[in-house]
Amino acid sequence: MDDHKIFIIGANGQLGTALRDKYPHAQYADQKELDITNRESVESFDWSGIDTVINAAAWTNVDGAETHDGRVGAWKVNATAVANLVQVAQKNNLTLVHISSDYVFDGTNEPHKEDEPYSPLSVYGASKAAGDIVVSILPTHYLLRTTWVIGEGKNFVRTMLGLAEKGISPTVVADQIGRLTFTSELIRAIDHLLSSQAPYGTYNVTNDGPLASWAEITRQIFSLAGYNNLTVTDTTTAEYFAGKEGIAPRPLGSDMSLAKLQSTGFTSRSWADDLKQYTTKEKEERS
Ligand SMILES: NC(=O)c1ccc[n+]([C@@H]2O[C@H](COP(=O)([O-])OP(=O)(O)OC[C@H]3O[C@@H](n4cnc5c(N)ncnc54)[C@H](OP(=O)(O)O)[C@@H]3O)[C@@H](O)[C@H]2O)c1
Repeated sequence: MDDHKIFIIGANGQLGTALRDKYPHAQYADQKELDITNRESVESFDWSGIDTVINAAAWTNVDGAETHDGRVGAWKVNATAVANLVQVAQKNNLTLVHISSDYVFDGTNEPHKEDEPYSPLSVYGASKAAGDIVVSILPTHYLLRTTWVIGEGKNFVRTMLGLAEKGISPTVVADQIGRLTFTSELIRAIDHLLSSQAPYGTYNVTNDGPLASWAEITRQIFSLAGYNNLTVTDTTTAEYFAGKEGIAPRPLGSDMSLAKLQSTGFTSRSWADDLKQYTTKEKEERS
């Protein structure tokens, strides 16, 4: 695939960073270079020579989106900006790859299939659902719904390793159930869909493997990193956030069906294998 014709938006985020590694000849912009919430900037941008836009930008501060300013920000980036991108994609015959979330669902109807009706619980989830709806009107789209993303940046694995380094035995929620998604897996899926010219549409993309809670994943991280002296205590989401203000409701069930993606010839990797690789590398880099 000719990566010169790819344009990456949100180039400094977890996924954006991984995309730049995968597509070294791609053009890209961070927020300072192209603020996608600004319609005029998006419209007047020079899109010539581009055939595929990958939008890795988003408002991802789930709790921050529950404040007044956060609500405005989340809707701007996750919905209004997406409409700006859909408009230029339509005008310039571009393929748009856009990333969405399990948070567009309330987590009760599992496994989540691509055509499940929207049922977001939070402002973040509602703003992402609005973005999904906008993307769905563009014929040339790949809308990828993912969960629990781990890459280069602030993420759950790094947070747990940070606690372990301080000798902290954490209490972790055990009633949110899903699978990690490494940015490497998202990139493999994006590359597969684009290069195989799979039918446009919505695809769930997470790593495969057994469902696990955040607490179970933490035990695996500690075991892989050799923190066998530390313990992980289970709690519920309700107990964990009790008494805290401004916490967004979270879906408890994040089991995404991978059948549609796999029917295109994609073989998903297990999250446990990717976690092993990631934790080993992190441990080396941190020591
Ligand atoms: N993280 C997860 O666990 C998770 C789970 C499910 C789905 N997702 C989805 O996966 C995608 C990638 O997530 P991620 O973890 O890679 O996110 P991330 O690390 O938070 O990166 C988001 C990027 O978007 C950029 N951005 C924000 N507002 C922008 C604007 N107005 N114009 C241009 N760029 C803007 C940010 O730039 P700055 O650095 O300048 O702020 C940041 O680099 C998102 O669509 C997210 O909703 C994530």
